[in-house]
Amino acid sequence: MELHLSGRSVLVSGGASGIGAATVEAFLAEGAAVTVLDRAAGPDDLPVRWVRGDVTDEASVREAVAAAGPLDIAVGCAGISGPMGVPATDITRDDFTRTVEVNLTGQFLLAKHAAPAMAASSAPAIVFVASDSGFVAAPGMVAYCAAKGGVVMLTRALAVDLEAARVRVNCVCPSIVDTPMARADLGAAFDALPVPVHRPADVARSILYLAAPVSAGINGTAQLLDFGGLAKSSFPA
Ligand SMILES: NC(=O)c1ccc[n+]([C@@H]2O[C@H](COP(=O)([O-])OP(=O)(O)OC[C@H]3O[C@@H](n4cnc5c(N)ncnc54)[C@H](O)[C@@H]3O)[C@@H](O)[C@H]2O)c1
Repeated sequence: MELHLSGRSVLVSGGASGIGAATVEAFLAEGAAVTVLDRAAGPDDLPVRWVRGDVTDEASVREAVAAAGPLDIAVGCAGISGPMGVPATDITRDDFTRTVEVNLTGQFLLAKHAAPAMAASSAPAIVFVASDSGFVAAPGMVAYCAAKGGVVMLTRALAVDLEAARVRVNCVCPSIVDTPMARADLGAAFDALPVPVHRPADVARSILYLAAPVSAGINGTAQLLDFGGLAKSSFPA
């Protein structure tokens, strides 16, 4: 399938690691021009513009959008786990707020500043990385689940709000992906998981499809990548 991404201008937040790094690589392979916004430094050998900054800092997001110039696509991959394995009654206000700030407010700021820069694009699109945690919960992940559920609804609300500007907004919602984040969260348990695990490149493929003009009819959706997990009934058949 021809994605028609060659020459398109793409801004990726969180492009230094994991899903974001795989997304940058996939866009470059399609011939896109990529700008990254990440709080971490980038590798020296990548042909991308790199802006060091925090997605919760509006000035950094503005700087990254300005560095990218006229945009066709923005992808929000930056995210943190927040408190993991912590009961809701023990989560500090600061930890909860920071988790929502990075995972939800950061996506909002990306869209807020990227959308106006897409005015001249023939096929403008925004794709957020949410999570299956926007639909299902495991114990000890309250802040992350709340933030990711917020990203799913942010996607719908922005799709409606930006319709007049022709900007499509969708999100991908993967279950566990083999990245530094998931390995740090799960520790030794990662290598003995009883469920299948995505590779970052698998998620990147879905992101590219939703960002590309070939998915023109898809708007305001949350693409679950969970090996059918959410489809399973608890009925003991
Ligand atoms: N790994 C998983 O199992 C999994 C599953 C579902 C969803 N996700 C989501 O995918 C996205 C990417 O996660 P990953 O697993 O690739 O993690 P990762 O830790 O490998 O990469 C996250 C990237 O985001 C950057 N980042 C974090 N906070 C930032 C901030 N405030 N400002 C700028 N950059 C920031 C980090 O520097 C890093 O480069 C996240 O939103 C995460 O919630 C991950």
